[in-house]
Amino acid sequence: MSEKRVLLIIGGGVAAYKSLLLIRLLAKVGIKTTCIVTKAGEEFITPLSVGALSGERVFTDLFSLSDEAEMGHIELSRSADLIVVVPATADLMAKSANGFANDLASTTLLATDKRVLYVPSMNVRMWEHPATQKNLQTLKQRGALFVGPVEGDMACGEFGFGRMSEPETIADTVINTLAGDTHIDALKPQSLKGKHILITAGPTREPIDPVRYLSNNSSGKQGYALAQACIDLGANVSLVSGPVALTPPKGAHFIAVQTARDMLGACEAALPVDVFIAVAAVADWRPKTTGSKKIKKSKQAIPPLTLVENPDILKTIAHHKKRPPLVIGFAAETHNILPYAQAKLKRKNCDWMIANDVSGDVMGGDENTMILVTKDKIEHWTTQTKQNAAKQLATAIAKHIGT
Ligand code: C5P
Repeated sequence: MSEKRVLLIIGGGVAAYKSLLLIRLLAKVGIKTTCIVTKAGEEFITPLSVGALSGERVFTDLFSLSDEAEMGHIELSRSADLIVVVPATADLMAKSANGFANDLASTTLLATDKRVLYVPSMNVRMWEHPATQKNLQTLKQRGALFVGPVEGDMACGEFGFGRMSEPETIADTVINTLAGDTHIDALKPQSLKGKHILITAGPTREPIDPVRYLSNNSSGKQGYALAQACIDLGANVSLVSGPVALTPPKGAHFIAVQTARDMLGACEAALPVDVFIAVAAVADWRPKTTGSKKIKKSKQAIPPLTLVENPDILKTIAHHKKRPPLVIGFAAETHNILPYAQAKLKRKNCDWMIANDVSGDVMGGDENTMILVTKDKIEHWTTQTKQNAAKQLATAIAKHIGT
């Protein structure tokens, strides 16, 4: 993609703070942002912080003569490849749908011939109000793009559609739009309501004797975050987890296991499901025999440890007669990430593979860089917290199979 520029119109809503992260995410992939902050927007974030992140002058007032002299509202939109209204409040949508032009934001929206991506954020009743829905239809008919809103908790204490999409999702949509993908069905509600999702998480523990075992460094953080993100989108989640120091998300059907064989049994028992996501770091081998008593240390001989292969849970579920329609694996690699992930996708009969580089401190750490590998595409996602990576993956699943 040659150098791209986005004009961000930051409206007055509680979610305005998320636009700051959006600016950073876009900057990371080389997309420049020019920002307009509306009067109401200034009540939520300061032009100073917006300017510090975008590295550019921030525009706030239509009637500033110097602004108009240096860069008028027409020029502002002319130099952008895409306009993003974030948050798109009910007021901004209404103004834009009805052709109002009484401030810099609405004037720019009226004067532009560029594509506009709206990121709605408002109270559920405001979103569902016939006036807003009519404005939405009007804008859509004129070719406007939308991402979100999603269903979830809102700052006003209510629950429902109206919550603004996460910055990672918005950034993805911007990147895809700039890359020429205009088939974004971003208005499709990103909900997993009525879907049953089975997730494995954490390590497995393979006993040598009653006090010793083979295991690995998996913390379970990514799998648990994913369970939470799917629950937040309304899914019914079964979480099969090896031993970790985390509290299972509220609302998950939680099944604690120790060994790979237990994990496989619990997963098979949970079928049928709509989606299977294998996040667990399953031990590849287990001791061939397990002592029923603690093996005594002796000076003469170190006890031999013969290992046998554990079942491959992902591969088994992906070849199961009750195979879920969407099977997702994780490919943690330290090198050759993409070729290995692509080979694993095929070998394990998965639909999607999440490749990630674990050469750093991903295992046990708080951040992750995911690459979504499917049979026909590769999507590089930004480095982000495991929670946000989980939200991005849950949203991608919802877009794929959601209601
Ligand atoms: O082959 P590898 O262990 O790298 O594959 C990783 C993927 O397979 C992960 O999704 C992991 O949860 C899954 N897996 C599994 N059962 C195993 C080994 C890996 O489900 N025995």
